[in-house]
Amino acid sequence: MDKIIIEGGRPLNGTVQISGAKNAALPILAATLLASGVHRLRNIPPLRDIRTAKTLLYHLGATFEEGDPLSVHTDSVDGHEAPYDLVKTMRASVLVLGPLVARFKKARVSLPGGCAIGARPINLHLAGLERLGVKIELKHGYVEASAKKLSGNHIYFDIPTVTGTANLMMAAVLAEGKTVLENAAREPEVVDLARCLTSMGGSIQGVGTSVITIEGVSELQPMDHTIMPDRIEAATYLTAAGITRGNITITPCIPDHLEAVIHKLEQAGMEFQISEGSIKSIGAKVIRPIDIKTNPFPGFPTDMQAQIMAMMSLAQGQSIITEKIFENRFMHVSELKRMGADISIEGNTAVVRGRSKLQGAPVMATDLRASASLVLAGLAADGVTEVSRVYHLDRGYERLEEKLSRVGARIKRVSE
Ligand code: EPZ
Repeated sequence: MDKIIIEGGRPLNGTVQISGAKNAALPILAATLLASGVHRLRNIPPLRDIRTAKTLLYHLGATFEEGDPLSVHTDSVDGHEAPYDLVKTMRASVLVLGPLVARFKKARVSLPGGCAIGARPINLHLAGLERLGVKIELKHGYVEASAKKLSGNHIYFDIPTVTGTANLMMAAVLAEGKTVLENAAREPEVVDLARCLTSMGGSIQGVGTSVITIEGVSELQPMDHTIMPDRIEAATYLTAAGITRGNITITPCIPDHLEAVIHKLEQAGMEFQISEGSIKSIGAKVIRPIDIKTNPFPGFPTDMQAQIMAMMSLAQGQSIITEKIFENRFMHVSELKRMGADISIEGNTAVVRGRSKLQGAPVMATDLRASASLVLAGLAADGVTEVSRVYHLDRGYERLEEKLSRVGARIKRVSE
């Protein structure tokens, strides 16, 4: 296993190239199952989770021509099973459920277990599919789904689930009649998927709002789609500028995707120059404490909670950070405290009392965004930080140490 070694205390300055969005690419790769032919996908990020998704598609019969665009051939797809040994490494594998039942009227997908940040059930995905006429049985740790046909219906999500909205959109797009998804997720990655499905011949209205209407069609055509830039990667680098008091420009990006993060970083004292496809961030000399509650889009993203907490560990005063999406997304706190952060947890709320310094230390990554948080803390800490188990990081950040080195960080990857 690799680890990343950081010598902290240097302000970061320069430009960071942002990759395609992991959480848009994953559902869009699954959507290739909805149509037979050659799909072309551009700006797919070369990440571990993407490789896992491609392995799953290959297991189902798809083949690939590597490159940008990536070509995905689905005319020979004949499988319908997502096995446990794949799903356990990436829960987003459940995104093949909707496309498989829509196209082949059957699917056998391993139930994803919990993960470090929470139980993460898929009950809303399954309840939505049942509303479309899919028979769902849970057998030996697998979801066994089958349907004679899929019929449009009205589906209400108790929680605006991101991949649940994606799964049901992909099922409904080939169902007979109209489907309404109420309390649907509004995340930009869901909008990107809808744009892709529309380009394939789907009929979808209201995406980006909490009520999405889908008119089923009988067949879809292969996609030719460019994945949106990754807003969480972008926000992570903006926060890297904030925590090191440097100036970083990120491009490409879609500023509208980053409004909540920019608003909070401005409250913390940062300034931004925003143009069409790029944002220049100017770090504050003094980091001001801020209160944050994570919420579904357009609220402050849970995927940025760990990263902003690292920055608030160096604020002048006390910040209150409330995690409202996942029940166990404070795994980074104990590691940040080993670096000298003063944080106490009460339920789903963390009280962060800012310190003047953090000390470099050996720390361990536990999940994707917690590992990003530890890297950010290491960039600002006095001395050397060693982050182990960086395979978590590789799931969502392309060449992170290279991108950070380019803007002045003293960071390297070594094999343990
Ligand atoms: C997506 O996960 C993202 N993953 C997550 O990013 C992100 O943190 C999350 O959305 C929230 O924004 C991908 O898009 C691949 P949810 P998802 O369904 O869809 C509960 C990362 O760092 N829920 O919106 O699994 C659930 O337990 C990852 O890139 C149910 O109870 O999240 C959670 O508390 C981590 N039943 C809340 O809803 C369900 O059927 C939101 O979950 C579905 C969800």
